[in-house]
Amino acid sequence: MGGEAGKRAAAEAAAALVEAGSVIGVGTGSTVNHFIDALPGRDCRGAVSSSEASSARLRELGIPVLDANEVDGLALYVDGADEVNRHLQMIKGGGGALTREKIVAAMSDRFVCIVDAAKRVGVLGAFPLPVEVIPMARSFIGRELARLGGRPVLREGFTTDNGNLILDVHGLEIAEPIRLERALNDLPGVVTNGLFALRPADLLLVGSEGGVERVE
Ligand code: 5RP
Repeated sequence: MGGEAGKRAAAEAAAALVEAGSVIGVGTGSTVNHFIDALPGRDCRGAVSSSEASSARLRELGIPVLDANEVDGLALYVDGADEVNRHLQMIKGGGGALTREKIVAAMSDRFVCIVDAAKRVGVLGAFPLPVEVIPMARSFIGRELARLGGRPVLREGFTTDNGNLILDVHGLEIAEPIRLERALNDLPGVVTNGLFALRPADLLLVGSEGGVERVE
């Protein structure tokens, strides 16, 4: 049970953590779609969503979507990842929702990351690191990313929910995720980078053949 079945198993384990009457944070992607599908019947009062796609799916299932500005904070945020290491630091943003994901993660007391076993890595960076940039800064940031040793590739035909571009950075072996996350945050024109190391997950649920493994 890898792939889709592993994603679903991790997502259903996360759905069991949703407290009745609570407002939760909801991420983006195919693993989170399984989580959203498992929400009906859990008496979830509403969700702050990290993307238009997740918002649409939540509404289809009758779960109210709240503006982030309407809530003081969130007890629980559930989201997937493209890669996760043993410190529960992640690369995210394969779906391009990294900025809103980072905001909702920061608003939340507890970040539960749901993945299938293929997402676990020793060193982050085999998955190209997404960096959301203001369109005017695309070339400048591209040169800066090359200076840092990466090979940035513009995600063709893609605009984020915030109206920006994504550079996917290939060829990075990220030995110090916190340091790189900070360095990228410091580049003018970078909106968000897909490293979630300063605020890692609090709980990792890994769906695989053996069931669901919890890592804290
Ligand atoms: C979207 C994300 C997703 O969590 C990440 O891409 C994993 O997606 P999936 O669950 O489809 O494998 O960060 O921006």
